[in-house]
Amino acid sequence: MKILVIGAAGRTGRHVVAQGIERGHEITASARHPDQLRDLPGAVGVHHGDAHDLDAVRKAVQGQDAVIAAVGGSLIASTLITAMRESGVTRLVMTSSRSVPATRPRLAVTLAWLFLRAVYVDLARAEGMLQVSGLDWTIARGTMLNDKPPAGRVHIDFEADATGGAMQLSRADYAMALLDTVEDPDLIGKALGICGPR
Ligand SMILES: NC(=O)c1ccc[n+]([C@@H]2O[C@H](COP(=O)([O-])OP(=O)(O)OC[C@H]3O[C@@H](n4cnc5c(N)ncnc54)[C@H](OP(=O)(O)O)[C@@H]3O)[C@@H](O)[C@H]2O)c1
Repeated sequence: MKILVIGAAGRTGRHVVAQGIERGHEITASARHPDQLRDLPGAVGVHHGDAHDLDAVRKAVQGQDAVIAAVGGSLIASTLITAMRESGVTRLVMTSSRSVPATRPRLAVTLAWLFLRAVYVDLARAEGMLQVSGLDWTIARGTMLNDKPPAGRVHIDFEADATGGAMQLSRADYAMALLDTVEDPDLIGKALGICGPR
């Protein structure tokens, strides 16, 4: 597949780019600052631009089969939805957080919302926009990310609370799940809780 990765220079985005190339996808890495993409694997297509900039995103989505947004947010959702509708590119997998819909474990969720309310409110807005976008969307809600080595497997939960797996998830495993998701048409129109394996 031809896949555009938004937030490609981020800690999860870099894994998506590297693993996507390993899987044989034609990856275009998009990041705000050209310097951030210099050390990404050579075969990759590169796009410089802010994901809030509609004209930049319009250019980036042209000719793609799918987009993975390895960074979440309502402004990014807004530009992607507009640009993708215009260009006829329909498949979009966007990162979000398990904390957005979660109610358990109660103390952890309460503390997370206390400190990150604005982030979660914005991600909730982004999720809502995707759900009415008419695109072939999947929302990939990660648990708490870390940079530990990959386990090579994740726990995916379709319930809002996503309590079936571990609350810690390596970014490499999150990236693997994002690529598995973009390749799987059965996951279109679904919100996944992506946890570490137990
Ligand atoms: N961190 C967690 O524990 C956690 C938990 C659950 C879910 N998530 C989800 O996972 C995503 C990735 O997390 P992460 O920790 O791997 O992220 P990260 O390392 O902070 O990377 C985010 C990347 O997105 C880029 N970015 C931000 N705004 C942008 C814009 N307007 N246009 C283009 N690029 C932009 C940043 O670039 P700059 O360097 O230019 O700012 C950065 O390279 C998060 O966005 C969130 O949706 C995270």
